[in-house]
Amino acid sequence: MVAAPLSSRNLALALAYLLPSVTAHIALWDPAMYGWDPNDPNQSEPVTPLYNLTFNQWWFHGYINDPPAAGAMMNLPSGGTYHGQVACNKALTTYGDNPPQQTGLYACEGDLPAGGTGAMHTSDAWESPDPVDVMGCGIAIAYESDVTKIKPSDFTVITVNYTCPWFKHVDFQIPSDLPPCPEGGCHCVWGWVHNIDAGSEQMFLNGYRCNVTGATGTVALPQAEVARKCPVEKSNCTIGSKQPHYWLQQEQNNNLQGYYDPPFYNADYGFTNGAQTDLFAAVTSSTCNRRKRALQTMYDSPTALERHEKRNANRRARVAARDTAGQLVPANASSPLFTAPVESEQESLELALGLRRGPREGSALELGLGQARRRTSSGMVARKTC
Ligand SMILES: *[C@@H]1O[C@H](CO)[C@@H](O)[C@H](O)[C@H]1NC(C)=O
Ligand SMILES: *[C@@H]1O[C@H](CO)[C@@H](O)[C@H](O)[C@H]1NC(C)=O
Ligand SMILES: *[C@@H]1O[C@H](CO)[C@@H](O)[C@H](O)[C@H]1NC(C)=O
Ligand SMILES: *[C@@H]1O[C@H](CO)[C@@H](O)[C@H](O)[C@H]1NC(C)=O
Ligand SMILES: *[C@@H]1O[C@H](CO)[C@@H](O)[C@H](O)[C@H]1NC(C)=O
Ligand SMILES: *[C@@H]1O[C@H](CO)[C@@H](O)[C@H](O)[C@H]1NC(C)=O
Repeated sequence: MVAAPLSSRNLALALAYLLPSVTAHIALWDPAMYGWDPNDPNQSEPVTPLYNLTFNQWWFHGYINDPPAAGAMMNLPSGGTYHGQVACNKALTTYGDNPPQQTGLYACEGDLPAGGTGAMHTSDAWESPDPVDVMGCGIAIAYESDVTKIKPSDFTVITVNYTCPWFKHVDFQIPSDLPPCPEGGCHCVWGWVHNIDAGSEQMFLNGYRCNVTGATGTVALPQAEVARKCPVEKSNCTIGSKQPHYWLQQEQNNNLQGYYDPPFYNADYGFTNGAQTDLFAAVTSSTCNRRKRALQTMYDSPTALERHEKRNANRRARVAARDTAGQLVPANASSPLFTAPVESEQESLELALGLRRGPREGSALELGLGQARRRTSSGMVARKTC
């Protein structure tokens, strides 16, 4: 059978069908984006999908040398909501200059029956109030104000929205336990990877200067791990803070899954819908489990218990040997710190399990007991009671 030649109208129609999935994709639009052009209200280059690129081409969408205007900041309110706008073109957002284009509900638009679904790479019916195939998007943060110092593994996903991208206005819930950003602010990335049932495979990632406003957290985020695939076996999900997905590029992928096995920002990779509330869970579980095992061993063996008490006494002596300026001075056996009673077995167990608060900060009894500490590059101490 010979295909009928396309009339110019049909050709235009065919092209119109093709165009959205070829040229129109999605970005999260915020003036604090790297690559933001303040003079172009119809900007669309940042939506270009990332595929098979070198690190410099995909990292910060290739815009690392094109920072946002001084003072532009994506503000993420601690314990609150960041109201984001995802769209195929800046013109559709409140940052465009043509109001009639800004009224649509969806991230992308199209005149054909499929509307903007092509650019969203989903099998959901156009204008569905409850999309189920869009796979989610997320925002990750790195506590570093100098963008040139950031490594991909420095980012931690802090918020996810499972129904993104679909509606243009997307709410991202911000965890309430984030520490404040350093002077000069933090950096963030927005990431999305779509399902395989529409269009070619690719990754979406844009970079932003960001800040956590009203932050009251006192504990630095632990090192984030790669998010493992766990669609069925939930015990296989990565526990605690997780990195964004870096996938399908020539260099520095952290997810090595194949072309038809894209990683998502949803429950299939252990991300909850909304604020990520498990950011410190790995510190708690790994350090505490180790400590619980050690303590159990100690209780099973009287000699181990004796050794523990000796260690405890030595530790106390070392603390007692420090003067107020932190200089080491000879141990003073008359000092109250040195003569304070060692905790009982029961107290020791409770301390280690975090059921009892340690005595004075930095005192002999607290050192090495009941607390997991993690020193970070910024000097903050991540500490978690088991
Ligand atoms: C942006 O696009 C709108 C219509 O799509 C047009 O009216 C306007 O002139 C464009 N603005 C610029 C700066 O190109
Ligand atoms: C990836 O890009 C390189 C050149 O940059 C090209 O040679 C190669 O064919 C591309 N691979 C795929 C799978 O597109
Ligand atoms: C995701 O964003 C939508 C708006 O697009 C909002 O209605 C919904 O509450 C958000 N979900 C979460 C978990 O914040
Ligand atoms: C970040 O927000 C805090 C308010 O919570 C503010 O004090 C600080 O100056 C902001 N940092 C930057 C770089 O804007
Ligand atoms: C657990 O995750 C690893 C890494 O993604 C995968 O290779 C393994 O098959 C998973 N196991 C189960 C039981 O899902
Ligand atoms: C040892 O500690 C006691 C009690 O704090 C104090 O009175 C005494 O002066 C200290 N001795 C030395 C040598 O620092």
